[in-house]
Amino acid sequence: MAVQKIRENIYYVGAIDWDRRLFDQLIPLPHGTSYNSYLIEGSEKTVLIDAVYPKKWDDLLSNLKTLKVNKIDYIVSNHSEPDHSGSLPLLLEIYPEAQILTNSKCKELLINHLKIDENKITEVDSSTKISIGDKTLTFIIAPWVHWPDTMFTYIPEEKIIFTTDFMGSHLATSDLFVKNEWVVHEAAKRYYAEIMMPFRAHVKKYTEQLKGMDIEIIAASHGPLYDKPEFIIDAYTDWASDDVKGEVVIPYVSMYENTGKMVNYLADRLIEKGVKVTLFNLPETDLGELAVYLVDATTIVMGASMVLAGPHPAAVYAASIINALKPKAKFITSIGSFGWADKLGEKMHEQVKALMPAIKAESLTPVFIKGSPTENAYRKLDELADEIFSRHEDAMGKQQIAAG
Ligand code: FEO
Repeated sequence: MAVQKIRENIYYVGAIDWDRRLFDQLIPLPHGTSYNSYLIEGSEKTVLIDAVYPKKWDDLLSNLKTLKVNKIDYIVSNHSEPDHSGSLPLLLEIYPEAQILTNSKCKELLINHLKIDENKITEVDSSTKISIGDKTLTFIIAPWVHWPDTMFTYIPEEKIIFTTDFMGSHLATSDLFVKNEWVVHEAAKRYYAEIMMPFRAHVKKYTEQLKGMDIEIIAASHGPLYDKPEFIIDAYTDWASDDVKGEVVIPYVSMYENTGKMVNYLADRLIEKGVKVTLFNLPETDLGELAVYLVDATTIVMGASMVLAGPHPAAVYAASIINALKPKAKFITSIGSFGWADKLGEKMHEQVKALMPAIKAESLTPVFIKGSPTENAYRKLDELADEIFSRHEDAMGKQQIAAG
């Protein structure tokens, strides 16, 4: 993206990656992404906040040339993942006098990943204050949103906080600030689900910390900036809370329609009871979309055909992703169809559960059947729908009581 002025002497100098469709060879990017860098011209010193993914180095360099930046005194590295640090070696070649400011863990990782000379790095911590003339750099060491090295940089005179990935969104847009709240809310929720949800306790802590600060702009390292901080702070408060929303998520894979029939029958019975239910046919599913629905899910029902003596590999893969994301669902079960061996069918739910040891949800009654579903199978699914409905009523009631 071309240079955009945020405020007097504070500029966006990052890059938009319109074309990128996969992150970490894992996370789908339906709307591309951006790598945000910020230039701050103090009355005495010039600072760059974070670098960009090396593939977009030319964009960053071009933006710095546009602003005629001849000298950078400090480069703040809030997080060492290469999408924000990968261009640091190139920056140091162009601006050899620059000192990198970062915390001790990030320093270790920058040296490890990028082989940066440790003499080029000055360590900071939460007590550090660095004057750049008319502005001051202060730091909040905020590990585990989402790496152990993450930190935020706050400029009190401007009431701007640079939060690296925290509260960001994978969204390629020319909007400097949030304009279409609905679009950004969806992208930020997907980002939260994929990147931040495994670290929910830390997310809650730092969200509370930001709530107590005097902030006018939140500038994350992906997606548009927030000039109404409460928009994203309120969203994060909701997503990271312990509350669930009475929703059922059913990821499933069906080889010969039998598991598919069971899944659709169960979904219909839940819908009749007024329960929100969302199905994800795994071989065709965008797993990022599944992650979004896991944010609010109360119950996860894994639908799986059997392959050989265990769950279909598509269910195994999805279970490994769900386990890594650690959603706050309170209940879990599984349903499906197997081909021939009753004894193997009886073990299917235990096998599915064993794939998700990090999910601390209570097990509801699984339903596994041989071949195509019979009336008896449908009655068992009726009972499961009743069980889910009644457990949700209990869970939501307790939430309401807890909320007073
Ligand atoms: Fe956007 Fe954790 O890097």
